[in-house]
Amino acid sequence: MGKYNELFARVKGLVKNVDKVIFDLIPEGDPRSLYKASRHYPLAGGKRVRPFVVIRATEAVGGDPEKALYPAAAVEFIHNYSLVHDDIMDMDELRRGRPTVHKVWGVNMAILAGDLLFSKAFEAVAKAEVSSEKKARILEVLVKTSNELCEGQALDIEFETRDEVTVEEYLRMISGKTGALFDGSATIGAIVGTDNEEYIKALSKWGRNVGIAFQIWDDVLDLIADEEKLGKPVGSDIRKGKKTLIVSHFFDNATDEDKAEFLRVFGKYAGDAKGDALIHEDVMGEVARAIELLRKYGSIDYAAEYAKKLVREANEALKVLPESEARKDLELLAEFLVEREF
Ligand code: IPE
Ligand code: IPE
Ligand code: MG
Ligand code: MG
Ligand code: MG
Repeated sequence: MGKYNELFARVKGLVKNVDKVIFDLIPEGDPRSLYKASRHYPLAGGKRVRPFVVIRATEAVGGDPEKALYPAAAVEFIHNYSLVHDDIMDMDELRRGRPTVHKVWGVNMAILAGDLLFSKAFEAVAKAEVSSEKKARILEVLVKTSNELCEGQALDIEFETRDEVTVEEYLRMISGKTGALFDGSATIGAIVGTDNEEYIKALSKWGRNVGIAFQIWDDVLDLIADEEKLGKPVGSDIRKGKKTLIVSHFFDNATDEDKAEFLRVFGKYAGDAKGDALIHEDVMGEVARAIELLRKYGSIDYAAEYAKKLVREANEALKVLPESEARKDLELLAEFLVEREF
């Protein structure tokens, strides 16, 4: 991970300016609980990779990064809103190393905090220092992105209780829930910085593939990561019966006996509304056994390799842009995203 240290330092530097915008838009306000709940994830940190993508995309096409700050805040707002609602749906208790919003403030306030963060994204776009033509186009991209994100999340939930999901269906689902916002981030950054349609298209394609790879890697981390480093629960996807590339590969290759054993724990809480604390006590040992089975068939390695290949393809798409420090950063970031441990 040493090779990424300089990249992290640059992310940190840029993100400081984006965070100013974010916290300006969500100050300590009234009702206090709503604003506290809304500030909970932004205050807890997170990698802030999407705003970094916006800013670097602007620079990679020759634009002014200052103009990208509000649009960068907008995509981080959309991301945080989706996390608050996702944690309710996935019944997870840990996010960015802290208790989830619904654990602290209850489901109703968490729904509202998510709604407020969603709304703040559009307030951020309204305040962006770009021409009204560009603003309209950014808005259009953000709307399309949010629509797709909801569609992807809806498929994710539907798939929990489906017996079989094809690889094609899985890819469509993650392209929506995660690929869309990476695509949107890179596209918006490009729009801020240029009118060159070829560049905008290249960044859109890069973002989509990186986002899909990012989600596949997230699914890998859900199984193999160190919970403390990851800052969210490990094994959650197994308990909830989430359909992933890893699980598809396993079902395509395992013996009937191993499949039956896996199914005893996989999806035990799909479509269920039990508390996660109970889930933890109940099935942690069984989850470890399920992961062992996935390893036996090389299913985790298969997915990891798939993600890395997508990143190589994504970085190919960037070759139409002139060489620059910013382009190099995007390429390096993409590589990091499918090696990261958190
Ligand atoms: C988590 O995203 C949600 C997914 C799309 C998998 P990140 O891994 O970017 O979360 P933070 O922002 O760093 O906490
Ligand atoms: C993330 O999928 C999708 C969105 C938040 C839109 P996950 O449910 O896998 O994300 P984590 O693992 O909880 O961060
Ligand atoms: Mg989740
Ligand atoms: Mg989810
Ligand atoms: Mg996950």
